Amino acid sequence: MIKPLIVENLTKVYTVRQRKGLFRSQKVEVQALKDISLEVEEGEIFGLLGPNGAGKTTLIKIITTLLLPTSGRVFVNGFDVIKQENQVRASVGCMLMGERGLYWKLTGRENLEYFAALYHFPPKKRKERADEILNLIQLTDIADRTVETYSSGQKMKLAFGKALIQDAPLLVLDEPTNTLDVPSASELRAIVRQLNQQGKTVIYTTHIMAEADALCNRLAIIDRGELLALGTPAELKASLNSRRVIHIEGVISAQAVEEVLRLPMVSNATRSARNGATLLTVVSYEGVEILPALIRVLVEQGAHIQKVLPEEPTLEDVFIAKTGRTLAEDTRIST
Ligand SMILES: Nc1ncnc2c1ncn2[C@@H]1O[C@H](COP(=O)(O)OP(=O)(O)OP(=O)(O)O)[C@@H](O)[C@H]1O
Ligand SMILES: [Mg+2]
Repeated sequence: MIKPLIVENLTKVYTVRQRKGLFRSQKVEVQALKDISLEVEEGEIFGLLGPNGAGKTTLIKIITTLLLPTSGRVFVNGFDVIKQENQVRASVGCMLMGERGLYWKLTGRENLEYFAALYHFPPKKRKERADEILNLIQLTDIADRTVETYSSGQKMKLAFGKALIQDAPLLVLDEPTNTLDVPSASELRAIVRQLNQQGKTVIYTTHIMAEADALCNRLAIIDRGELLALGTPAELKASLNSRRVIHIEGVISAQAVEEVLRLPMVSNATRSARNGATLLTVVSYEGVEILPALIRVLVEQGAHIQKVLPEEPTLEDVFIAKTGRTLAEDTRIST
């Protein structure tokens, strides 16, 4: 079976001029992608997660033939991005640059029909396709207004709709929920899931870890052009060998806390008041395996346990473990 995407040892170096004083400039190289290899399977929603400047857009631009690799090979639906540019383009629906890829003086409907014409749809089909998409992205109400009158969220939705026109088997979406409010973003993710269930493979970039976690079957974490980790969200979190935090609510004596602290896998335990009860926060390096022993000690000490809430590790924790930084930090290489 032909894979939707194969990336082999991909490197991208940008050469840019950097100003040096008023009249001089020098050439500098920015290495945006460093020896990236990955494969996307048919039917997946594959995420590219990374902070600002990680190289996500650079990778998407190479996949969609807008940019040439410096070295390495990339195959999209079996086609080589360097030698078979046209076949690649015909087999991918992409959303890049968000609203900047639209004509603001045309209406939403005219935009979709225009792009449908570029994909050689006959006139009647163009109208049908535009209608279907407007319906799906719920923009029918404002379809006959010029795009310049749209809110940024409405423009983003239309840009997403544009990626769907040619009904390509692979959808490549570069931060499609950027600038969308919370309900619109979750609406868009629901449409992405729906399209995925109908058989489309999706490549989806984001710098929001909760979004990657909620949406993607597998994901690659990239940072400063390097592939840091690859796997399902569950695999990535399970790979974390870091501390786990467990909250226990109930009636818990100070003596019980002393006993908990004596457990070998417990690195810390603190007691505080919460809603008239005691909140015990236990930090352990053993994960949830510690729970039976923990509860036994508490019960032996006469504690009444009302709630046990283990804190789940997040993808952010995975990123922090690999880099020592949070995802929010901007890592753009300043030139
Ligand atoms: N046209 C360009 N010329 C020179 N350097 C560039 C160019 N485009 C991107 N870069 C650099 O390449 C690196 C990766 O940028 P890229 O846009 O791929 O990151 P990104 O992960 O999409 O970030 P963001 O989340 O901010 O969109 C950055 O250091 C950036 O400064
Ligand atoms: Mg980007």
